[in-house]
Amino acid sequence: MGVRIIGIGSYVPDNVVTNFDLEKFLDTSDEWIRTRTGIVERRIAPPDMATSDLATRAAERALKDAGISAEDLDMIIVATATPDMFYPATACIVQKNLGVRKKPCFDMEAACPGFIYALDVASGLLNLPNYRHILVIGAENLTKFMDPEDRATYVLFGDGAGAAVLTKDDSPYGIITSCLGGDGNLGDLLYLPAGGSRRPASKETVEKRLHYTVMKGREVFKHAVLNMQAAALTVLQRAGLKKEDITWLVPHQANVRIIDATREKLGLPPEKVYINIDKYGNTSAASIPIALAEMKEKGLLKRGDLVLTVSFGAGFTWGANIIRWG
Ligand code: COA
Repeated sequence: MGVRIIGIGSYVPDNVVTNFDLEKFLDTSDEWIRTRTGIVERRIAPPDMATSDLATRAAERALKDAGISAEDLDMIIVATATPDMFYPATACIVQKNLGVRKKPCFDMEAACPGFIYALDVASGLLNLPNYRHILVIGAENLTKFMDPEDRATYVLFGDGAGAAVLTKDDSPYGIITSCLGGDGNLGDLLYLPAGGSRRPASKETVEKRLHYTVMKGREVFKHAVLNMQAAALTVLQRAGLKKEDITWLVPHQANVRIIDATREKLGLPPEKVYINIDKYGNTSAASIPIALAEMKEKGLLKRGDLVLTVSFGAGFTWGANIIRWG
């Protein structure tokens, strides 16, 4: 039995923050950000807008696109590293917002590849008799966890959400295969030091700004390039496909130079790669479903297109999916 994406939708907050806006309070420049990352602007959620708010709006759009109601769902999975709170799960809050009850719902924390992980997990579950429709959401409110005084991290991230409705299907369309990877040995290159059980929030952790993300950018960059290249090649091999079979490479939008390195390894021309980092920055688990929803809206995705998604993030974690669109 196959698993098909029957609906997709996304939501980003209205508030656009440009590189020039950041120049006003950070020792940075539009030129530096643009040339080192490809980012021109990003969306920043207002203080009272939580991850579940972004996720719910994306979910409503995906359900509308799928032509089913929330009542038809058998499960809700939210991939996020920035939940509303530790518990209840953001997926439970989304369920409440969608006005339904008694559906299994849980969050998945696999950082930036969270959506790719969730597609693979949901595909496995859809092969069981219990489930027919699963809503998978990638949603992040990362800017609330970036230090506005740290130019090395604050300029890179943005907020948003994307959602997909997955269903059992025996057509030739859908998720063909996935590959997931992880390595916890390098976790200290990208992490959020305080607020968890290792270092619970205290006056001291707040004073030391330990509730903000710490990242060794140059190191992360190297690992991102290597692992995204490797994951893309592995998933192609697993699917029995050649590089030239791919219609679209839809990579995680972390840095345009990482995207270029992945594309070059696959030998794909630039026009086969979807890039929107200029508009949204790095939205972590939301970046791939936001890109897919945008591509569908623009009419770029045709029935039968082979889409390769690939991502890398904190953990480290990485992964890739091959989807035959339709
Ligand atoms: N504006 C201006 N200068 C900045 C800056 C900013 N926003 N951020 C850093 N710099 C400075 C650094 O302080 C450094 O100055 P120095 O040479 O005087 O020490 C210089 O720019 C170069 O820094 P470096 O970190 O070597 O730059 P880089 O070319 O590696 O680019 C990143 C930095 C963060 C853009 C890049 O490493 C990257 O994208 N890494 C991956 C990050 C990522 O994707 N994380 C999420 C994973 S999903």
